[in-house]
Amino acid sequence: MLKIAVLASGRGSNFQAVVDSIEQGEIEAEVALLVVDKKDAFAVERAKKHDIPWMYVNPKDFNGKDAFYEHIASELKKRDVGLVLLAGFMRIVGKPLLDEFHMKVMNIHPALLPSFPGLHGHKDAVDYGVKISGCTVHFVDEQMDTGPVIIQAAVPVHHDDTEDSLSGRILPFEHRIYPIAVKLFAEGKLEDRGRKVDVKDGQSALFFPQEEYVSEA
Ligand code: GRF
Repeated sequence: MLKIAVLASGRGSNFQAVVDSIEQGEIEAEVALLVVDKKDAFAVERAKKHDIPWMYVNPKDFNGKDAFYEHIASELKKRDVGLVLLAGFMRIVGKPLLDEFHMKVMNIHPALLPSFPGLHGHKDAVDYGVKISGCTVHFVDEQMDTGPVIIQAAVPVHHDDTEDSLSGRILPFEHRIYPIAVKLFAEGKLEDRGRKVDVKDGQSALFFPQEEYVSEA
């Protein structure tokens, strides 16, 4: 069975969404480890509640970024991890981890990449005045939010939206598409074609939940 490691820095609601999906039998996988880089990350409380092993790794204990990621990679290898999920992990992942888990590290970003990468995806979308934003699950490469896209969900942006209101509209869709991406991976349905990720069996990786917005039209 696929073993998953999750890297988080805070709230951990996406971590929770994946755990819930597994517990509901939707994904055949097991979360083998949660790694946090912040001692007080709320994600740890979630891990405890679900009896998921967790580990706090303090970047300050290491002599540089590579050593930090070498340590994490070795902990994951020890546990036979086959997929790494970034879930609100507030760091750019280093080469030692990416080399060890090539095309096996995913991230969720709260905008439709390649638009609005970086730390302020919601605010940047609101400030720019786009009418549609959303969220993206992608494989991780060495830059920020640039790796191959796996699945996206689109949501409307309203003229009076704030960072918070847009974030509140997007988050439920993060919780829906991240488990879908993990399930596709676990079932071996993601095909790496270089820049593009194809989904086997012709399943759609575009999630445009129009029905949820009928009442807003
Ligand atoms: C989410 O909005 C995710 O898209 C971004 O960081 C936030 C993490 O939230 N990368 P949570 O910790 O999963 O609740």
